[in-house]
Amino acid sequence: MVQHSKLRKAVFPVAGLGTRFLPATKAVPKEMLTVVDKPVIQYVVDEAAEAGIEHFVFVTGRGKGVIEDYFDIQFELEQTLKARNKNAELTLLSGLLPKAGSASFTRQQEPLGLGHAVWCARDIVGGEPFALLLPDMIMRAEKGCLKGMVELYENTGGNVIAVEECAPDQAHKYGIVGVGEQLEGGFRITEMVEKPAKGTAPSNFFINGRYILQPEIFAILETQERGAGNEIQLTDGMLKLAKTQAFAGYHFKGQTFDCGAKDGFILANVSFAIERADIRPMIEEPLKALLAALK
Ligand code: G1P
Repeated sequence: MVQHSKLRKAVFPVAGLGTRFLPATKAVPKEMLTVVDKPVIQYVVDEAAEAGIEHFVFVTGRGKGVIEDYFDIQFELEQTLKARNKNAELTLLSGLLPKAGSASFTRQQEPLGLGHAVWCARDIVGGEPFALLLPDMIMRAEKGCLKGMVELYENTGGNVIAVEECAPDQAHKYGIVGVGEQLEGGFRITEMVEKPAKGTAPSNFFINGRYILQPEIFAILETQERGAGNEIQLTDGMLKLAKTQAFAGYHFKGQTFDCGAKDGFILANVSFAIERADIRPMIEEPLKALLAALK
């Protein structure tokens, strides 16, 4: 085990416009779209809590106020539930509520990219390592992705990025890492490229949206120039940080659903629904019939 500071805070960049889900996202933030009966953001916050995170930092934007309301009590609703003796619902709501003072909200005023969104959290995070969870990606695994990363981090210190394998023809959609020395649960990262041109990716390991970063990234992002897509890219900032600090890749082997895309969102709904004992019996046969009718 190497010397490392404990990971207490997690950043959730939730300012994205969600244009792929219009018209739904005209009035509802994409992070609040439901997978079965919970908003997408709840799955991501649960993953962070499972990994021991104590403080949740949301980088929001205009039109995202409902996310802040969601992580607060809803007085009228709770009074009504109490009056109606709806105890199961009350317990459900209180179990999901972050502890008082453990959620912070700041705004990214302009959509200048992921690197810029992360930089907006600098004052709240301060001088300690932090987790970063992209809220579009929700994961299903026996051990949560961030929890596995924390275990690797306790051995390696430094920075940790979760990666998964993709088909080579999909690499241009993601940040891709180069693979070095093997570690327990992962490997040393030798290089990183954001959205590599077809045929130039150093491997098929893509960055899946979970990071543990050291606070020195903030000073780098402060002066980071725009990169791919004319946005301030986190990957470009991490490349600079990698000149002075180690980066490890955590090889996540569970299932990931990109809920920022329609196919991933729909598959997440079906997949989480069939895992639920209260729902599966109602949908199993109709789903089979639907699939059979496709043939
Ligand atoms: C971002 C990151 C990229 C990562 C991806 C995962 O890209 O910049 O490195 O692979 O998330 O979803 P975006 O999806 O914002 O284009």
